[in-house]
Amino acid sequence: MAPPTVTNDSNQNYDRMKEVKQFDESKAGVKGLVDAGITTIPPIFVNPPEVLATLKPSPSTAGAAEIPTIDLAGVDSSPDHRSAVVEQVKCAASTVGFFQVINHGIPVEVLDGAITAMKAVHELPAEAKAPMFKREIEGVSLVSNMDLYHSNAAYWRDTLLIQFAPVPIDPAEIPEVCRDRLIDYNERTLAVKDLLLELLSEGLGLIRGKFKELTFGEAVTLSGHYYPYCPQPDLTIGFRSHTDPGVLTLLLQDNMGGLQVKYKEGWVDVKPVREALVVNIGDLLQIISNEKYKSVDHRVLASNSGEARVSMATFFNPGAAENVYGPLEELTSAEDPPRYRRVTYKDYMHKFFNKQIDNTSQTDYSKI
Ligand code: OGA
Ligand code: NI
Repeated sequence: MAPPTVTNDSNQNYDRMKEVKQFDESKAGVKGLVDAGITTIPPIFVNPPEVLATLKPSPSTAGAAEIPTIDLAGVDSSPDHRSAVVEQVKCAASTVGFFQVINHGIPVEVLDGAITAMKAVHELPAEAKAPMFKREIEGVSLVSNMDLYHSNAAYWRDTLLIQFAPVPIDPAEIPEVCRDRLIDYNERTLAVKDLLLELLSEGLGLIRGKFKELTFGEAVTLSGHYYPYCPQPDLTIGFRSHTDPGVLTLLLQDNMGGLQVKYKEGWVDVKPVREALVVNIGDLLQIISNEKYKSVDHRVLASNSGEARVSMATFFNPGAAENVYGPLEELTSAEDPPRYRRVTYKDYMHKFFNKQIDNTSQTDYSKI
């Protein structure tokens, strides 16, 4: 592993690398620290002052925008109704880049069951979890701070990653406490994803099946995040500001709150709605739409409100990672020339996982 190339504090008088390694080798994640009863966070989690300064709500943006909620009930009840829904999806995707959907067809008991199941895995005894902590992402893995060795500050979250597709997972690999409920939840999200990809295609004036043709959504990774109680939430972050690199993300969150979306110069809360799924546009849709759709920065705050927060992000990506993607010809013109080079999704992801923490955005990588 490469040594850290950035430090968050020039006065650091501790051996950051040593502490990073110790945390990594504990194979207990952030939950392990909390279980050990810490009352102050280890220095590797302390974020730089420029990040900490943005954590407090700023009066200028409070309530400035709402993340829209789109009702998918009876989307095909008539062509006119479908067009109205397409219009709402298009509007959200081309402005805030985020929306919530309700009446998506997944029963609320399945949503609640999936959250409970995910919480149960993260709350297994440390000995049961240690063998799942891995740095290679394949099948099922527990990860805390995937970029621990490159980043300037760690974040307060552990994640269970399950790669459901394109290579099918052997169910026996999924921990038994969550297996059935997560498989059920995952299968049901596929129909929601198919519908959303159609609506998003139509919103760009493309044929309904265009994104399917591009293999979008054939790769499916479920990330079950666990944001433990944090004794000093003003010194660290649950997950730092980022955009999602893929096509589309469907997110299920519990009722704790903490997810925020960048809007103008401030941050807007994505308020938990029990029966809703949060949808956001990934970088690849921003690229192929030549920025008609927006992949927007978002983050999660750490919290000391007692309970851990659980969320599940399903990342839908292209099945054909070797395919080259760039702005679609249909969506560019002499007046609106391509804003991105064509890149393979594989290269794009490689860049994503090895990106240094700096002020450039990930989409800049293929920007013309
Ligand atoms: C992500 C993400 C938000 C959340 O996994 O990319 O943004 O609420 N998660 O956990
Ligand atoms: Ni994200």
